[in-house]
Amino acid sequence: MDFEIKTLDLSAAGAEKADALLVLVPEGFQPGTARARSPLAQLLADAVAARAIDPAKPGKALSCWRPEGVAAARVLLSPVGQGQARRVQQAVAAAVTSLRGTGVKRLVVWLPPATGQGEANGADGGLALRAAMAAVRDASYVYTATKPKAEPRELQRVVLGVPDAQALREDFRAAYATGLGVELARSLGDLPPNVATPTHLAQEARKLAKPGAIRCQVLGPREVEKLGMGAFIGVARGSREPLRFIVLQYQGAPAAQAPVVLVGKGITFDSGGISIKPAAEMDEMKFDMSGAASVLGTFRALAELKPRLNVVGLVPACENLPDGQAMKPGDVLTSMSGQTIEVLNTDAEGRLILCDALTYAKRFKPRAVIDIATLTGACVVALGAVRSGLFASDEALAGALQVAGEAALDPCWRMPLDDEYGEGLKSNFADMGNVAGRMAGAVTAAKFLQRFVGDMPWAHLDIAGTAWRGGAAKGSTGRPVGLLVRYLLDEAASQTSRPLPARPAKVASRSRALAPRTRGH
Ligand code: BES
Ligand code: MN
Ligand code: ZN
Repeated sequence: MDFEIKTLDLSAAGAEKADALLVLVPEGFQPGTARARSPLAQLLADAVAARAIDPAKPGKALSCWRPEGVAAARVLLSPVGQGQARRVQQAVAAAVTSLRGTGVKRLVVWLPPATGQGEANGADGGLALRAAMAAVRDASYVYTATKPKAEPRELQRVVLGVPDAQALREDFRAAYATGLGVELARSLGDLPPNVATPTHLAQEARKLAKPGAIRCQVLGPREVEKLGMGAFIGVARGSREPLRFIVLQYQGAPAAQAPVVLVGKGITFDSGGISIKPAAEMDEMKFDMSGAASVLGTFRALAELKPRLNVVGLVPACENLPDGQAMKPGDVLTSMSGQTIEVLNTDAEGRLILCDALTYAKRFKPRAVIDIATLTGACVVALGAVRSGLFASDEALAGALQVAGEAALDPCWRMPLDDEYGEGLKSNFADMGNVAGRMAGAVTAAKFLQRFVGDMPWAHLDIAGTAWRGGAAKGSTGRPVGLLVRYLLDEAASQTSRPLPARPAKVASRSRALAPRTRGH
């Protein structure tokens, strides 16, 4: 799908050739003086005067067929209240959904001058534009991978008409690239678990590396064994699918500059293992690789945007299945950090693969490490599907992620990390157990991870509630790619204004991990 941004006033929008034209109408919008009105402006003025639409009441759009003097066959007039980005997003999503199956290939979306004003965000036309572009993609997405008869996406070309295209060029570029990343994450999440195996994720990562700016290295069972990732290996042991440890490196700044490391949980199917889950809705545990998918999606956007920043992506990927060889409750695993872990519940597997990836992250001496994981059902109970759970040991990092979440309409909410929450992790037979009691499960999971981050500035995003939807609209959402891309762009911008201390010289043990490619896999 192509996007284009154009400077268009209402009359130019009416002249734009398209199958459909969506006009967003904010409260108090003046479609020009009666004498100077274009046919489209007149239509709008008449519709408002006749109360066929009420700009103050978002959600009720008016559709017209071949109105006189307008180039598009279909015209949708959609109220957006005070033009807040959320309203824009909802109006565009509703309109694009209503156009599904109507053969509309070319769409013009007209954003009025007032859009984005009247909210805490100020007069941010960029926010409204990004919201509109995300909504077009989201509402026109079609899953086709294993539905050979499904009609592919109809929309081919989308023109965004704005008051001043030049002023919004950067927002347009960011939104376009983010859209590609979200869509990659979403389609990976939607794939069935017999297709989206650890090996498949590694192949997708390799594809990202092709264009050049990104390096990809894939480790298999032997290398991971050598690294001593006993916790990760413990989880993978119950599966016939070989594990993969994916290392992506995007270099957009001098090599001496410390990178941001993203770590994504890549459980391609979570049955619970020996502590097996109930059968109902177990299929949904194919989404347990959404953290990994969000890392790949973010790299897709990086490849497009090329910000001046270094980013490393780490993805431990495997299945969690019961088997004669599977880890059992009571087993003690030795993690790469040397700390031992008593497995009290094999269904708390995400933290076991992440803890070794976090230990691995230390070799990059990161300026920040962020893990992204569908980690706990408890986080779904706490925050539902609206906000991801944010845990952070570093105030500046927490603040930056919160700001990025709001700006990307992909919000998160800060959760606590008081040491008392970690007390339940003690074990009589190992340095820690992998679960604590029944209370505050999202927090105790984060406290477990924190034992492996040392003094790296660290944040953890629990996306169990936000990465996918259940029920009739079952499917992946592509979150939190929007938040992550926004955070990285903000970081790149702040980095150019404030030089960072150089990263310490390479240590010997790192050179092996950075070797261009490992054979096999
Ligand atoms: N992948 C699940 C968490 C999850 C649950 C994600 C629901 C999405 C929706 C995770 O591996 C898990 O099973 N967590 C357990 C932890 C428990 C055993 C301490 C949970 O949340 O029940
Ligand atoms: Mn689990
Ligand atoms: Zn899981």
